Amino acid sequence: MERLLIEGGVRLHGRLRVAGAKNSSLAVIAAAALAPDQSVLENVPHCRDVLIFLDILRVLGVKAEFTAQGHLVLDARTLVEHVAPYDLCRQMRASIYAAGMLLGRLGRAEVPLPGGCVIGSRPVDFHIRGFEALGAQVMTEHGFLKASAPQLTGATFYVPRSSVGTTINLMLAASRIPGLTVLQNAAHEPEVVDTAVFLSFMGARVRGAGTSTITVEGTEDLHGATYTIIPDRIEAGTYLIAAAATHGDVLVEELISEHMTALLTKLTEAGAVVEQGPTGVRVKVDSDLRPVDVDTAPYPGFATDLHPQLAAMLAVVAGRCAIRETIFEKRFGYVDELRRMGADIRVEGDTAIITGVPHLSGAPVEAIDIRAGAAMVVAGLEARGETQITNLENLDRGYEGLEEKLRGLGAQVQRLPV
Ligand code: UD1
Repeated sequence: MERLLIEGGVRLHGRLRVAGAKNSSLAVIAAAALAPDQSVLENVPHCRDVLIFLDILRVLGVKAEFTAQGHLVLDARTLVEHVAPYDLCRQMRASIYAAGMLLGRLGRAEVPLPGGCVIGSRPVDFHIRGFEALGAQVMTEHGFLKASAPQLTGATFYVPRSSVGTTINLMLAASRIPGLTVLQNAAHEPEVVDTAVFLSFMGARVRGAGTSTITVEGTEDLHGATYTIIPDRIEAGTYLIAAAATHGDVLVEELISEHMTALLTKLTEAGAVVEQGPTGVRVKVDSDLRPVDVDTAPYPGFATDLHPQLAAMLAVVAGRCAIRETIFEKRFGYVDELRRMGADIRVEGDTAIITGVPHLSGAPVEAIDIRAGAAMVVAGLEARGETQITNLENLDRGYEGLEEKLRGLGAQVQRLPV
């Protein structure tokens, strides 16, 4: 057990390189296991969710090793097992990708119903309906999703509500089965597009990723590929928000600024100076920030995964702001923790109403989920005095080298045993 100690009040200053996208990596790693072959993935972050997912795949028979250069080498020739391990899958939402992959690869899958952040009920009913559309018989029994089919074939499936996980899981299965699959109302997120591009590199014919209709022509002849994962827009956004919150000046390098439009628009509206260049995005704040209102939405809208961090920034902006959460009903777990630091936030239905206070004061708080933990980091950096964050395993699920990156920007941060 460890804790993070942050001495607040330092303006972040400098540049940092963003890691590869965690959520893309999980999907692309699952895709790589569709082919009885070797793949090499570059820019995969060493965060906890990725490491757990690799352990899940190892139980299924996949060999997975990072090279000295940090590339991930996956060898799925030895995948034989169709039952995913309960204890590991319970720890993360994306373990459900093992179901789409196993169904495509072996025609059967037994995968524990996933766990992950406590931000809402997070059912998998869309995934199940999608697998059934492809011809699988699916049941949930003893905490497992069990799917099997003598013969899967492509089909048309309307995703009932914009869902990143469902879109990716069905692309995975459809890439390996015969026939044409048409996914309507597909999610547009960059992580969906990244997965589709990698599947194309593997030999599947995937068209339309990034639009509402994705078509997949599957083939049994998938092969391994070498691929570089896109930069993590949520990690990048977290540092850019922290830069603005501390009235700092930070350049986040090697990110795709188009993925950040909704956040950068809001930061500009709040009074930050945002510069988008060929090498990255710089955020600078020289004067008081202004209140802004935000609705979270599927991409290209404002990402729900940046909602808690933005709330932490707005907690000390004079005036009143409203953040309406439209994706996850229990996203507001961070609110109680921020209140411990002196924030004035109340939740009305799906909206957090934030009344800015002059300053937050450091306090012992918990990282109750990945992004709530990131919000505590932002709050700790802008607060007066010392903030102690516990439950770091949640933060570590999504952030690689957090304290080194923050120290590189001048922050006073240390990780200590509890
Ligand atoms: C992914 C991301 C997560 C992000 C979210 C929304 C990963 C590993 N996680 O989560 O960080 O916050 O997208 O951008 O990539 N839903 C159902 N039934 C289903 C599936 C989803 O009702 O079978 C609902 C969810 O409860 C939620 C909404 O659909 O309200 C969107 O969820 P979805 O896009 O599927 O999120 P995840 O893929 O789990």
